[in-house]
Amino acid sequence: MNYAKITGWSKYAPPLLMTNEDMAQIVDTSDEWIHSRSGIRQRHYSHVSTGEMAWLAGERALACAGVAASDVDLVVLGSTTAEEFCPNTASLVKNKLGATKAAAFDLNSACTSWLYAISVATDMIKAGSIKKALVIGSERISLVMDWSKRESCFLFGDGAGAVVIESTEQAAGLLYYYLSCVPDSRECLRIPSYGLSPEHLTDDIFLSLDFEGREIFKSAVKGMSDAIAIVLKQQGISADDIDLFVPHQANIRIIQALANRLNCPMEKVVVCIDEYANTSAASIPLALCGALEDDRVKPGMIILTASFGAGLTFGAGIIKWGDRVTALGVSEAEIPPYQGTVFDLMADSFAYYGVDAEHLLTDGAKSETP
Ligand SMILES: CC(C)(COP(=O)(O)OP(=O)(O)OC[C@H]1O[C@@H](n2cnc3c(N)ncnc32)[C@H](O)[C@@H]1OP(=O)(O)O)[C@@H](O)C(=O)NCCC(=O)NCCS
Repeated sequence: MNYAKITGWSKYAPPLLMTNEDMAQIVDTSDEWIHSRSGIRQRHYSHVSTGEMAWLAGERALACAGVAASDVDLVVLGSTTAEEFCPNTASLVKNKLGATKAAAFDLNSACTSWLYAISVATDMIKAGSIKKALVIGSERISLVMDWSKRESCFLFGDGAGAVVIESTEQAAGLLYYYLSCVPDSRECLRIPSYGLSPEHLTDDIFLSLDFEGREIFKSAVKGMSDAIAIVLKQQGISADDIDLFVPHQANIRIIQALANRLNCPMEKVVVCIDEYANTSAASIPLALCGALEDDRVKPGMIILTASFGAGLTFGAGIIKWGDRVTALGVSEAEIPPYQGTVFDLMADSFAYYGVDAEHLLTDGAKSETP
């Protein structure tokens, strides 16, 4: 039988930080409120596109796996913030990597995009259609932050994470998954002015996120709990058999509620929402790579993952780790730094939403802002 073992992994966290204190200079909020309600202390904001971040995470994951880009059969990019509708962003990533023979597609199920993507790519490997795939989650979600909505603008951050999966006969990789979508819940979380419907066609490049936090919170806990119960049952295991739980990082209280329902001690749970906030499709690969860097992943471990996002999509999966937890190689590739501050980066967005941030900008940025 074919399996799809994870043989490479990597992440890219953009260097510019927007801390809660920074945010409190933009909207009426505080570090105390944000941290106590969500667990977030800061988020990374990117000065480069979703595709550029995806490329770097992919380049590093391939080096980690010791796989040449030319040997990759598929590049799949999970993202809500694709660069264009057409062509897809995965083709940009494939070209930049030099993955000459690879098929390339984007997959958008919002925050669950990476879980959906690794499920599809794993099934393609199990079916024997492909041998090696690069599965990336990348988001530049700072572009859709609406600074007039203090209830949602603090929740999200940018970043990318990637894994390489390869065909093997060893029982490893994503062993089983369950994916679903809550009926009639599309309005809870959406970017309404983004799309090709006639009412969306506009020159306005600033996008706004519509958000019903409490409703999403309840559905997230229920959806992920149900999905977890299904994957545990299918694998014939209980929560006690889980060595590590890598949940989507949307809110520390959602993560704690899930862990409580599972009776899973928080020591087994990977939490990085304090550092990254919710990076949507990048959230699980970022958390997984962080756990590997922190030596929390051991050979043969059983890892549970679960995710939730707009749609409202949700799912869970059981991953069996292989025998290697160290990288075979390291990529020297880098993204050139941004010459400015996080306030400079967001200056146009602040101006669009009427936020008075002029005093926070450096002189260079001030002269560029209309
Ligand atoms: C967004 C979220 C953190 C809000 O937490 P909450 O406990 O539900 O807070 P509420 O929305 O009830 O707001 C409580 C109060 O804080 C205020 N408030 C909202 N945002 C605030 C902010 N940034 N700073 C300070 N106060 C704020 C509200 O106005 C409200 O005030 P009121 O009681 O006087 O009316 C929480 O609902 C959540 O995490 N939801 C799910 C996350 C999610 O959807 N992620 C994306 C999908 S994967």
